[in-house]
Amino acid sequence: MQNKLYNLQERPNKELITTQDGTQTLYSKEFDECYHSTKDGALKESLNKHIIPAFKLQNKGSLVVLDICYGLGYNTLTTIYYYQKHRPNTKLHIIAPEFDKELVESLKDFNYPKEFNNLKDIINAISKTGSYTSNNLKVTILFGDAREQIKNIDTKVDIIYQDAFSPKKNPALWTKEWFADIKKISKADAIITTYSVATPIRLSMYENGFKIYTQPKTEVRSGTIASLKDLNLEQVDMKLKKIRNKSAKPLSDKDLAS
Ligand SMILES: C[S@@+](CC[C@H](N)C(=O)[O-])C[C@H]1O[C@@H](n2cnc3c(N)ncnc32)[C@H](O)[C@@H]1O
Repeated sequence: MQNKLYNLQERPNKELITTQDGTQTLYSKEFDECYHSTKDGALKESLNKHIIPAFKLQNKGSLVVLDICYGLGYNTLTTIYYYQKHRPNTKLHIIAPEFDKELVESLKDFNYPKEFNNLKDIINAISKTGSYTSNNLKVTILFGDAREQIKNIDTKVDIIYQDAFSPKKNPALWTKEWFADIKKISKADAIITTYSVATPIRLSMYENGFKIYTQPKTEVRSGTIASLKDLNLEQVDMKLKKIRNKSAKPLSDKDLAS
């Protein structure tokens, strides 16, 4: 049954979609794209593409996560759910840019999966104020354009969930210049998780000093892990890719203007 509380008449640019794992997402008419993979499922995608791979690679007592972008909050909420279950003593600070304030304000009524049942206070606080703070957890939504907001972040991050709409639909959040700004606020051992496996996007990260790895196989389609430190994963030889494909180049802000 569709969630009656989530009033889509007030959000004419969005459509509610039930994904393969039974969890709900939205389709954005503005970007002509779903917020999550309908085939993988919203919760499954969040867990397998972002939260679990990053959880396995970054085992510190205190972590700063950059969630690009907040959207329906699945990545932020799944992170909180997963750490509360498996590493409850970890201190988490999650920073998430998002320009759709109206969407975030509406999420108190969203029909989230049962895994988020214990997070109701957090969901309500974020929806109401754009932030939440407790002993071990801080969530900060930066309302506005991520390209601008990233310049205001004055703390270094350990993990970046790069989960914008696709490079085709939202190219500004996939360029070499965007990843240069991400690099500036990254710790020396920071990692990026993303669903994109496209060579221009991998080059956008690689040409900023990130090493490129194939995500280990999970229940969902494979993605990319980019890392500033060496990882014990299958590395993609980007030098060889450039030799073999002379026309391969990173996506650039210059391509957006034309
Ligand atoms: C694919 S959705 C993110 C899904 C989210 N990670 C989740 O787990 O629910 C992409 C989000 O990026 C936001 N967005 C797109 N371009 C943006 C920009 N330049 N600045 C801030 N937010 C942006 C959209 O409003 C949308 O909420």
